[in-house]
Amino acid sequence: MLFQSIVFFCCIALSATFTLGQENTSPKQSSESLTGTWHCQFDSPFGLQTYHLHVAINDAGDATAHAEVDARDEVRKVEFVNVKVDNDSLSFAEVRQFGDQVFRIEYSGERKKKDLAITRSFGERGGQKSLATRELPKPPPKEDPAPVVEVKIDRLIKDAFKDSFLVGMAGDLPSRYSEEELKLAAEHFAAITPENCMKPERVHPAEDRWDFERTDALVQWAEKNDMTIHGHTLVWHAQTPNWFFEGRDPETVKRRMKQHIETLAGRYKGKLQSWDVVNEAINDGGNSETAKTENLRNSDWLQTLGPEFLTLAFKFARQADPDAVLYYNDYNIESGPKHASSMVLLERLVADGAPIDAVGIQGHWRSGRVPFEDIEKAITDYASLGLKVSITELDVTIRGESGGQFGRRRFRSSTPPSLNDLNAQADDYARLFAIFKKHEDVIERVTFWGLNDRRTWRWGQHPLLFDGNNNPKPAYASIVALADSDDDAAKKAPEPPKNVKIEDGGQGDYSAIVTEAPTLAGMTIYRPEDLSAFAGEKKLPVLLWGNGACANTTEEHKNFLSEIASHGFIVLGIGPLDQLQQRNETSRQRTNSSQLVAALDWIIAQDTDENSIYCGKIDTTKVAAMGMSCGGLQAIEISDDPRVTTTVVCNSGVLPSRSPMAAMPILTKEDLKKFHGPVLYIMGGPSDIAYKNAMDDFSRVDHVPIVMTNLDVGHEGTYRQPHGGEYSSVALAWLNWQLKDDKASAKMFVGDDSQLKRNPDWTIDTKNLEQ
Ligand code: XIL
Repeated sequence: MLFQSIVFFCCIALSATFTLGQENTSPKQSSESLTGTWHCQFDSPFGLQTYHLHVAINDAGDATAHAEVDARDEVRKVEFVNVKVDNDSLSFAEVRQFGDQVFRIEYSGERKKKDLAITRSFGERGGQKSLATRELPKPPPKEDPAPVVEVKIDRLIKDAFKDSFLVGMAGDLPSRYSEEELKLAAEHFAAITPENCMKPERVHPAEDRWDFERTDALVQWAEKNDMTIHGHTLVWHAQTPNWFFEGRDPETVKRRMKQHIETLAGRYKGKLQSWDVVNEAINDGGNSETAKTENLRNSDWLQTLGPEFLTLAFKFARQADPDAVLYYNDYNIESGPKHASSMVLLERLVADGAPIDAVGIQGHWRSGRVPFEDIEKAITDYASLGLKVSITELDVTIRGESGGQFGRRRFRSSTPPSLNDLNAQADDYARLFAIFKKHEDVIERVTFWGLNDRRTWRWGQHPLLFDGNNNPKPAYASIVALADSDDDAAKKAPEPPKNVKIEDGGQGDYSAIVTEAPTLAGMTIYRPEDLSAFAGEKKLPVLLWGNGACANTTEEHKNFLSEIASHGFIVLGIGPLDQLQQRNETSRQRTNSSQLVAALDWIIAQDTDENSIYCGKIDTTKVAAMGMSCGGLQAIEISDDPRVTTTVVCNSGVLPSRSPMAAMPILTKEDLKKFHGPVLYIMGGPSDIAYKNAMDDFSRVDHVPIVMTNLDVGHEGTYRQPHGGEYSSVALAWLNWQLKDDKASAKMFVGDDSQLKRNPDWTIDTKNLEQ
């Protein structure tokens, strides 16, 4: 016997055969038309593989065949066995070994005019076909395009908020920006802040030297593109040359400040809408004592002019450009003692008649740690002083150290953001914009500090709305969706139908749709179309679903999942919605069980988010981790999450040793301890390649109730049958019992006369089950 162990190879279009005899290898007849080199391609869980097949037949009619195979990142050499030629057809086999496991793939080919039609099968139920040609096929599509997820933009962010506030970006445009970047900036943003070129050290490097080249260019470019300009910044402790303070004589320093402001703000009078007059005057940190004071930073300005320097700066700015909106700008002033100090300072400025109009909350935040409540309170606090508020330097970073501006410190390498990171960031941005929109009467402008994840001082932390290649990120979509959510005009605009109905919405009481959510990128949602039935006592339990082959689409399981949803469940399945209808390379991208956990976080957050359609409609205490084949392992992998109520493993089981499939979760039998609620296995009988592994799992689990069910249909299950076939009935009975406490449904499984016991097509074994 060639096979040391039976292996569960994920649900690919192929299935395994394990019966091999020694076959007679001598050909009946040879055919010259088959000799030579052929090229063909096969899909595999590892990606597209191109076979360059060489067939030779000697005078005695013995045939040999070998190939070079271009796989994802290697060229593999294959010597085929059992090569047989019969007139215009041939057959051969490929034996692959992974560790101590051996797989056999059978090929048969037949001449079809000038080509060779090849079928390959990994088991008894047919396989893949490919036409081999004498010419080289086109190269496989490029793997791994830059965006992690594709985000479609149906509304520009600046338009989505045009009735609320300006949406801007920072940068010293246009010089050194690409045409594509300039286009992006002008298209999406309504305002610009010069990131560096208007700062004292750049524009006024010496008392008698000004450099207006870049500032003039910026103003011109912004005007040409109809963008509002915000000036940044007149008086600051950083990026300010020492000559301002030379001699340290207060009168001289004051004169220099005045001249600086007069010249700069005067030059652009009427062209700039607003100015950051004083930047970052308050100390960091602080405590309950400093909270009662202004806690001013010990800058050269403070040292030479005293606390009056702020009032002076505002007065000079007002004189230089009477119509400009004048800002005090700072970071972290929304929280803690620094916020308290900012209130003390601003109250003093207002009382002293400093011509201040507005406060800039810079908004350099970190994903997962955005102080939403503080931000909202700070906005209302500042408004209570009669001041307008802008978010002037918004960025929400994703973990990792910054590589500095444009990645100059690239040695601190940048890790690409995961889908979860991007979704979490999108959620943070959406929540922020919900706050800004709520306070649109106070908020003047929200400006992102940079243009894309390359043009940011937080390079490597992926903080902005576009990635380094100018592709929009999920955050863009989530922000725009938020604007749409209560914008009447947007509501009236016809929306392209995004939702899909499978089999008329299923047979349950609640016609189901398949949909997606902008803040849950990369996942497909199956749910009742009309959610109104779930606003009261009845709520939707949650199903987390991983796919066969850990594929990035629920396509193969759509009948089954839609049927379940129609009985009043919400399913969050791995894979973007568009892959349901049109599978492409994306559907083969690797997926990860952490996507299921992130989806659970998401739906729990939706349940309490009053802007969400799911608000108050989800039973967040009832969660099933489910999946088929490779996806079943993903379900097992997340089963130790305390929020998981039950696990349903379909056509799957933990492998005895490491799988050859890179995408498969690496689990050992130890991981079965992760189960902490009742477990159901739905299997395909002995011909299911995962059967042995699943039965072995069943024999090992003693610490929770566990049910093993089998219908003799093999690894493929019944998912593709109308309404998901018999698997749907069994799964639904389990889910109704476990997640909706429906005792009647328990009859499917419990007792000697359970429905499955009485059903001759099914077998059932149970352990620790309540009787
Ligand atoms: C940053 C720029 O983005 C960087 O390019 C520069 O090297 C340093 O300054 N608060 C501010 C901005 O007010 O001016 C800072 O901009 C970021 C923090």
